[in-house]
Amino acid sequence: MSHDQLGLFAPSHDDTSDDTNNIQQQINELTDDLNEHAHRYYVLDDPIISDAEYDRRYRKLEALEKEHPQWKRPDSPTLRVGGPPLEHFEKVQHRVPMLSLANAMDEAEMREFDQRIKRHLKMPASASIDYVIEPKIDGIAISLLYENGVLITGATRGDGVAGEDITNNLKTIRTIPLQLSDKDRKIPPVLEVRGEAYFPRGAFDAFNAKMLANDEKTFANPRNATAGSLKQLDPKITAQRSLAAFVYAPGYSEGVEFDTHWDFLQALKHWGFQVNPISQLCSGLDPVVEGYHNLMEQRPTLDYDIDGMVIKVNDYDLQERLGAVAKSPRWAIAFKFPAQQETTQIETIEVQVGRTGALTPVAHLAPVQVGGVTVSRATLHNQDEIDRKDIRIGDTVVIQRAGDVIPEVVQVIMDLRPEDSEAYVLPNVCPVCGSEAERAPGEAVMTCTGLDCPAKLKASLQHFSARKAMNIEGLGKKLIEQVVDAEMVVHLSDLFRIDFDGWTSLERMGEKSAQKLLDNLDKSKDTTLSRFLFALGIRHVGERTAQVVAQAFPSLDQLYNASLHELECVQDVGPIVASSIHRFFNQEKNRAMIEELLELGVNPEPPPPPVEAGEADPSFADKTFVITGTLQTRSRNEAKAQIEERGGKVSGSVSRKTDFLVAGDAAGSKLRKAQDLGVTVLTEEDFLAMLGENA
Ligand code: IVH
Repeated sequence: MSHDQLGLFAPSHDDTSDDTNNIQQQINELTDDLNEHAHRYYVLDDPIISDAEYDRRYRKLEALEKEHPQWKRPDSPTLRVGGPPLEHFEKVQHRVPMLSLANAMDEAEMREFDQRIKRHLKMPASASIDYVIEPKIDGIAISLLYENGVLITGATRGDGVAGEDITNNLKTIRTIPLQLSDKDRKIPPVLEVRGEAYFPRGAFDAFNAKMLANDEKTFANPRNATAGSLKQLDPKITAQRSLAAFVYAPGYSEGVEFDTHWDFLQALKHWGFQVNPISQLCSGLDPVVEGYHNLMEQRPTLDYDIDGMVIKVNDYDLQERLGAVAKSPRWAIAFKFPAQQETTQIETIEVQVGRTGALTPVAHLAPVQVGGVTVSRATLHNQDEIDRKDIRIGDTVVIQRAGDVIPEVVQVIMDLRPEDSEAYVLPNVCPVCGSEAERAPGEAVMTCTGLDCPAKLKASLQHFSARKAMNIEGLGKKLIEQVVDAEMVVHLSDLFRIDFDGWTSLERMGEKSAQKLLDNLDKSKDTTLSRFLFALGIRHVGERTAQVVAQAFPSLDQLYNASLHELECVQDVGPIVASSIHRFFNQEKNRAMIEELLELGVNPEPPPPPVEAGEADPSFADKTFVITGTLQTRSRNEAKAQIEERGGKVSGSVSRKTDFLVAGDAAGSKLRKAQDLGVTVLTEEDFLAMLGENA
């Protein structure tokens, strides 16, 4: 629709003879136009006008409606801001009960579901059934009733028989059409659809952050926030919450019939609903199982929480023949994912002391399974976090583990708090060495001030000997604890002073192991400057930073003499990192420690001279590389850029012309092909060595 048709830019003298029809038509056209653009924006994710332009048209409609409320349409986008508040919610009887789903816990139960269906339908076990698979949205079930295409009632599921009338709240959700579109498909006189309202993750995080900033109660997860938002008697509050909705099931309808669920889902899209885009039609069970694994992988990348996958028989005749048992249909099942949140109890809070002396409170939990692993500890970060969430020993808490992230306490369940509980305050002395612990102004962490705190020393030694640092094989946590507790190591360098007798004096240390360890200690002394820098445990200096700093200052002397400004000039080194490095090398005791290490034979090799940008490196120039699998130290794109900077080429597929295949973890067919063709295969370490970084 053009702007002119909308009368947006029409000169005002066009509106002469109080042409009421004209105004009503303008309201109609603007309503259609805005609904169309909102649908493009919210449902199709494909806007074609700017937000500002949308706002302009919206305000125009708002003004016209204010003057002529009699022509305001029931699907006007201005209704999305929420009407007047209610006293209470009315009850709504569901004309067809809202069922729930039986669960399958593993693949075997899913196969059993498929077999059960075939037995019930008297089909051979080898027959193939068509299924639709859909993500199981972890939100709040809703029912939407349309009469002649207009949204009349929106309700919660309630007990499945009757729910609550939350129409005004649901009208604020922009992915729920107020008026169905009849552009591609006829609208039935009565249509009830069911689905799930949810809080998109991004919007939820922003919302919780805002609540936190205003000192208001945050929600443990998007599902709770959705429930809370839909229960508001004042729809204006709901309107501020950016909820969304997917639809996935038919309810009571008149004048429309579908042969299959897949057809039904397509019709929903035409009518303007948001249907989940990763729903899929599968023929037989194998693609269903594959779909489950794919969905599991996609789970962390989705902008909404899902707690499993729903499998539905596609054919509605078959669905009818299968019917329901108790409260769930026989034709569908939910294949659940492991939960990512659980509740458990805090048994005690332990304070750990890290390498930098930071005191970290760690909650010891009654063990629970979260996302498939047993969790018995969760970090509480610092005093501020504890205060903010008011976490106490003895509390029952919601914990969460998202992906590989360390488990964290999300929320305390206040109703279950023991009466005699007390607020938790971190000790002001180090629990390991008894020195004073202090909190630097502006920082959240408490730090142990003890110079020789054994906890700091142990953590430093562990870091020093780690694989990516000095790589001292065989020197594990247990041994480090023993040598520190026995005061055989008081300073880092003492590690290289322990002799054969010293090592064999330790518990469970045989002569052979002692000799091996001494050999490994010796071997570790020949190292690279970047490993050595990383091993020193300078604050903010990780493996990558150590590498770039070693490239820029290839000897310790140069590092000693580097000015703050020179350090800041190194690419990827910001002012905080630069000042940390500068401070470290300007402390006498650190220099002394380094000198001792050098005297004891530690020999950090400078990196090979760097390649100037644009200057070709003979090992790379005109060579063709293929990168496959996952690299640990950088993304494939970064690796590609580094190859190209040195004059090499990167190709996507392996052929006889390939000079090198860089094979990261889980390299697959490309690696096999390279081996078949006799192409040189580089491990990540080989590749780093070629780059002149760490070998
Ligand atoms: S179908 C008769 N499909 O899971 C079957 N449900 O325990 C009706 N849910 O109450 C449900 N995503 O709130 C269906 N794609 C989906 C779903 C889904 C989430 C929820 C729904 C229902 C519960 C089943």
